[in-house]
Amino acid sequence: MAVTRDYDADPERFRLATRVTRKYLIGARCLHGHIASKLLHAGLSHVLDIGCGEGALNEALPGNPPFRLAGVDASATMLRAHPGPRVLADAARLPFRDEAFDAAVAVNMLWHLEEPRLALREARRVLVPGGLLIVTAICRTDSPELAPVWHPEPTSFDAEDAPAQVCEVFGDVEVERWDAPLMTLPDRTAVRDYLIARQVPRAEAAEAAGRLRTPLPVTKRGALILARR
Ligand SMILES: C[S@@+](CC[C@H](N)C(=O)[O-])C[C@H]1O[C@@H](n2cnc3c(N)ncnc32)[C@H](O)[C@@H]1O
Repeated sequence: MAVTRDYDADPERFRLATRVTRKYLIGARCLHGHIASKLLHAGLSHVLDIGCGEGALNEALPGNPPFRLAGVDASATMLRAHPGPRVLADAARLPFRDEAFDAAVAVNMLWHLEEPRLALREARRVLVPGGLLIVTAICRTDSPELAPVWHPEPTSFDAEDAPAQVCEVFGDVEVERWDAPLMTLPDRTAVRDYLIARQVPRAEAAEAAGRLRTPLPVTKRGALILARR
């Protein structure tokens, strides 16, 4: 199974990331809520959440039938907290039959894979004809205000080229981009936690946070990509 970074070894890092986003995002701009409303409006009831983590998408959706969401993740620790039906598996080898789902979603997870195309092909395989894919990606230039202290490496699935990768597998895509100061980090602790959430080692994050002025507005840049099988 592909490497899952620290989701098993240090799940608190991911949980901190979730708390930081919920606490400092301005207004009610919740990505999972946005995706949930798209699924509901499209009338899609059988959904696969690939790289589901602890179930943020599940939380944003109604739990009642006919709505059904299955989560798949490579981390046993993440899956333990997932409330719905869930399976431990690699996104590149989904343990589901062809055409099993109306929709497949992957929120901020494809960047973990060396070859995101393999997971995209698998997502396409398990979708019914006309089924909906929704994936998200973060820009290489996300959070430019942090640039003086933080230089993340490019990933295999940054928002700059993610639409082209999805297009290769699915054909047409629709892209919703965001580029706006969606967060304000009020103090050094918030900046430190934001950096830890982005996988900066804790001691380095604490030191770097002291070098930035607060409150710090943070420009979020990313993309949501939709495609039909
Ligand atoms: C940034 S978290 C996102 C979790 C969830 N989608 C959310 O929005 O809260 C990335 C997730 O992808 C999972 N993951 C990483 N590599 C994976 C793989 N090869 N197959 C399945 N899941 C994987 C991690 O274990 C983690 O739960």
